[in-house]
Amino acid sequence: MKGLVLSGGRGTRLRPITHTAAKQLIPVANKPILFFVLENLAAAGISDIGIVISPETGDAIKDAVGDGSAFGVAITWILQDRPGGLAHAVSVAGDFLGDSPFVMYLGDNLIGTRITPFVEDFQRGSAAAMILLKEVDNPTAFGIATVDDRGHITRLVEKPKDPPSNLALVGVYFFTSRIHEAIEAIVPSARGELEITDAIQQLLDDGAKVDSRIIGEWWLDTGKKDDLLAANTTVLQDWGESSVRGDVDAASELTGRVDVGAGTTIRNSRIEGPVIIGPDCTITDSTIGPFTSIGRGTKITASNLRHAVILDGCRVEHIDDMRDSLIGQNVVIEGAGTDKALRLTLGDDSHVQL
Ligand code: DAU
Repeated sequence: MKGLVLSGGRGTRLRPITHTAAKQLIPVANKPILFFVLENLAAAGISDIGIVISPETGDAIKDAVGDGSAFGVAITWILQDRPGGLAHAVSVAGDFLGDSPFVMYLGDNLIGTRITPFVEDFQRGSAAAMILLKEVDNPTAFGIATVDDRGHITRLVEKPKDPPSNLALVGVYFFTSRIHEAIEAIVPSARGELEITDAIQQLLDDGAKVDSRIIGEWWLDTGKKDDLLAANTTVLQDWGESSVRGDVDAASELTGRVDVGAGTTIRNSRIEGPVIIGPDCTITDSTIGPFTSIGRGTKITASNLRHAVILDGCRVEHIDDMRDSLIGQNVVIEGAGTDKALRLTLGDDSHVQL
């Protein structure tokens, strides 16, 4: 069984962060979302993986992933020249996929479960396709399925105004090669994309069996800032051990689970876990509160932060209260002792003086 990871698209919903970066590379607990995806596929024994990339962000994704050996997999890069939709991405990957069955996994989705049992179920079963579903509160935002009492899909609709159920497609799909004929038979949707939901509906219309599994574990579609902060919180909550490889002075206090990278110095500061601080950071005279991830080489001075994701190379000084914030790379935030709580979303290279 092959793997197909979709990491193309434009990622407009995370702007300004993704003006300059691919949304699949946004880190959750300091690890790019795409790496969780590759680890999940590798753990299920799927080692022949195609990654669909776009001309805009493809090189950044290639640089981050390398040749796949860090994950124990072989990568084939597949360039999709425009974001033509999820089914368009499958057709662009036609040469790589051949007649093989495959798992398609959206590169910006995080699920709190291994896919291994689902891969095994699909390989044992006789369905033309199988999809993972999750009950959601906001079904208008997703592809939505209705299922019969055996778990077979009866209908699929993409982002319905009037949802027929609350079962959302979570971005993990299992296909036999029958999906290729179905894709050939569909036309672009109202938003101009070849939708994979329409292709699966086509399979149903052709009389094929489409199976489903409902996952109980968490799932985070990380397209938006609040989703990303929620994903960061959940992963930090779930992760196990503290590990301090940096240098923490006696005037500092670390409580709860705290991960400090090599080359990082912490001086006269309080770190309240779960918190992850990347390598080569400097934290001085500051409090870093729970559910915060700080990337590599960031400098925090005389500031109080919590519930925030801060990427690499930032400088934060004299900020009394920053929370619920998503900060891109190489951002500078200089405060002047305001006591207001700041909630910020800042793209790469921003400079804010308060
Ligand atoms: O997150 C789950 C939802 O993902 C499902 O419930 C929907 O049925 C499914 O259509 C999809 O909806 P989104 O609107 O969230 O898809 P998005 O445009 O964000 O693309 C998902 C991933 O696929 C993302 O990593 C970018 C990549 N992609 C997207 C398009 C449109 C491609 O590689 N090529 C594309 O042409």
